[in-house]
Amino acid sequence: MVDHDSAYPVQPTESTQLGLWTQERLRSVARELFVDAPLVVVSNREPYLHHIDEKNNNLTWRRPPGGLVSALDPVMQAIEGGVWVAQGVGEGDRTAVDASGRVPVPPDNPAYTLKRIWLEQAEIEGYYEGFSNEGLWPLCHVVFHRPRFNASDWKHYQTVNRRFADAVLEEIGGKPAFVWVQDYHLCLVPHYLRQARPDLTIGISWHIPWPNPEIFRTCPYGVQLLEGLLAADVIGFHIRYHGNNFLATVEQELEARLDRERSRVVRSGHETLIVDIPISVDTDEEEEVARSQEAADQMEHFQVLFNLERYDHVLLGLDRFDYTKGIPERLMALDHLLQDHPEYKEKLVFLQVGEVSRMQIPHYQELNQEVEQLTQEINDRHRTTDWVPIILWREPIDRADLMALYQLADICVVSSLHDGMNLVAKEYIASRVDETGVLVLSKFTGAARELPDALLINPYDADDFAKKLDQAIQMPKAQKADRMRRMRRVVRQNNIYAWAGRFLQEMARSGGVEAR
Ligand code: G6P
Repeated sequence: MVDHDSAYPVQPTESTQLGLWTQERLRSVARELFVDAPLVVVSNREPYLHHIDEKNNNLTWRRPPGGLVSALDPVMQAIEGGVWVAQGVGEGDRTAVDASGRVPVPPDNPAYTLKRIWLEQAEIEGYYEGFSNEGLWPLCHVVFHRPRFNASDWKHYQTVNRRFADAVLEEIGGKPAFVWVQDYHLCLVPHYLRQARPDLTIGISWHIPWPNPEIFRTCPYGVQLLEGLLAADVIGFHIRYHGNNFLATVEQELEARLDRERSRVVRSGHETLIVDIPISVDTDEEEEVARSQEAADQMEHFQVLFNLERYDHVLLGLDRFDYTKGIPERLMALDHLLQDHPEYKEKLVFLQVGEVSRMQIPHYQELNQEVEQLTQEINDRHRTTDWVPIILWREPIDRADLMALYQLADICVVSSLHDGMNLVAKEYIASRVDETGVLVLSKFTGAARELPDALLINPYDADDFAKKLDQAIQMPKAQKADRMRRMRRVVRQNNIYAWAGRFLQEMARSGGVEAR
């Protein structure tokens, strides 16, 4: 188990010294950096999905759920003119694109190009469900689900990574380019790109934890994964702890020269810089949505739907249904709380919101059943004639719904067992334009490093977790406001544009380009 115990104080970043990063500032930096070489982002998940509306015989679109694409889309919109390569999964996706798989997005106000690639069912099963999500996902999250690796999934993973790299190469032709790869699905893309085009500037951002070397070495393909990643010029983690785990893994698994002071690895003459820059949310946009009429309408809607007026305390858990998020643990903490404090009966409600995810994978189906069963048990244990403590809500929700729910929540509970960052925590803070609300946050999230003003919990410690829920409920108003104000300052400072701007500047420096 990793030790994330101590939150460290937030260091003044480049953005603190130069003023706030904004969409405008990122745009002007990008104009200088990408003048001769365009930016190509590569990720598995696409930022927009198209659907065929059969009733009206036209194409509609939506943004898929998920923190990563929601965070990167405003960055790409700010940069303008870039290309994003991703897997097309919407049933109207093929209809929307041209012969090269390209479509301008956002569909209602295009700022960049989405280039879709198409995967066969067997490839999706081997590369996405198998190697990425049954292998690398549990391996890196250290959540006591044995990772499953097999040769056939690995083969698909290699093939699909090559296909993503080929799509990038096709897109850039023979020209120079900056390629920014995202996440654990695409570890080998830097390697395939480098083989074909040694001159490219390549960065990869790693959005999940990196485990310690003892855990990592159980992966039979670990060396190839490391070699794939080290073909990049810059590798980005969200916290130093994961970058250090990566360096320790390289030291143990490969023959390479490590310069820990400058956070660099040199292998076969190629130098890779390892950075830690915390990802975040678009605070301006979130605030705008939070203040919108649409969010206000949705608040009213949810108030009626869940009968929220009758409660003194609304607690919210909001996650993609994933076994790394600690959903059963938070329900058990609530159970403890109600056993220790029966006076809260009928006074509080716990809303657990979020869509099911990756349901083709057995562990996800099991989680879904476990949460249903636990909810029923806990509700039965504490119910009164017209009250149950937990409401499970698994419908898809859009941005306005999200901001409405956050603003209705007196307490937001993020109890991940392990998380690279966790953007729900930051979104909750961004949404609280009224400067109130309490964040109960797992100390095993990357976000906990920046947010010591949250009530930090160990999700495995149900007693203490229940006590922290009680503390959150009892917290005096003035203290809530003080903590929330400080957290809002941090999130505003280290916003999504700061994350992207700083990472892209590191990439540019490594490729010999300097922005003013
Ligand atoms: C989480 C992780 C991201 C990852 C995403 C994939 O949000 O933090 O790093 O890219 O899951 O989710 P998906 O639904 O695309 O499998």
